[in-house]
Amino acid sequence: MAGILAAQHEVRDEKKSKNPAIGNPEAIAAGQKLFFASCAGCHGPTGGGGRGPNLRERGAWHPMDDDAMFTIVQKGVPGTDMPALNRPDNEVWQIVAFVRSLTAPAMEANAPGDIEAGRRLYWGSAGCSQCHMIAGKGGFPGPDLTNIGALRSLNEIRTSILDPSERGVTENQPVRITFRNGATLEGICVDRTNYAMQVIDRAGTPHRIGMNQVEAIVFSKKSSMPDDYKTRLSREQLQNLLAYLSRQSTRPPAE
Ligand code: HEC
Ligand code: HEC
Repeated sequence: MAGILAAQHEVRDEKKSKNPAIGNPEAIAAGQKLFFASCAGCHGPTGGGGRGPNLRERGAWHPMDDDAMFTIVQKGVPGTDMPALNRPDNEVWQIVAFVRSLTAPAMEANAPGDIEAGRRLYWGSAGCSQCHMIAGKGGFPGPDLTNIGALRSLNEIRTSILDPSERGVTENQPVRITFRNGATLEGICVDRTNYAMQVIDRAGTPHRIGMNQVEAIVFSKKSSMPDDYKTRLSREQLQNLLAYLSRQSTRPPAE
């Protein structure tokens, strides 16, 4: 799975436009307003889809380069419901920058906020480090966040914190396994093929499980994350946390 993700990012990087709006927080914020006004009615407020297709999944499976998206937004798709947007080029680029930010790795988003304050919150009062590791320090059973800025979009990280049961990412899901001999195991599924599954249990011990030993697997939609960060964290604290997490990456930052 990690291999597939890495390959996707490479394809995306290759096709990346040099337009200065992409990855620019102010352009993204302006694009978000325009998107709410002109696009959200059909594509959903965060691109999840509706009358128009899901713009986040398309991004993940068939990356569309920024120039192609610019053309589609400006000219529409003739013969379909997708209208042409009669707006100046810079506004179209702002919208493209916003749509791109929904799927681009968080490390490319230049997330605003106080990184140091976010770091203190993460390792301190927010309690994140009790369940997550970064660079070999921290706890279990949450997934290792050392490379989270390269693996997930800012939007996915935000959703993981605020609405963990809605995050829509299928990796690192809570799972309960019943073995043929009657034993059970609960933990987080970190890797899965047709033949085997890697599960980290609550104590942080990895288990490699052959499917031939398994009677039943139940993935839980209910997250193991605390569900009250939405009320516990102020807007500013959330932003600082995102600024810190989005910069956690084992990849060198883009120039
Ligand atoms: C009236 C509904 C509607 C509105 C408003 C709308 N779209 Fe669409 N959009 C669609 C439909 C339907 C499609 C699928 C067209 C097709 O069949 O190829 C589409 C396709 C797209 C695609 C191509 C997706 C793909 O996977 O090929 C992009 C990108 C897109 N829209 C972005 C936008 C943006 C950005 C806006 C706002 C400026 C917007 N759309 C406004 C309905 C809409
Ligand atoms: C009680 C343990 C616990 C605490 C506390 C906790 N998490 Fe988690 N977190 C998890 C588990 C377990 C998952 C795996 C998926 C799930 O259950 O939702 C997860 C998933 C995540 C993910 C998604 C990872 C991915 O692969 O996409 C992010 C991001 C995250 N947590 C960030 C945080 C942050 C930031 C905090 C602190 C504000 C925090 N977590 C606090 C247990 C925890």
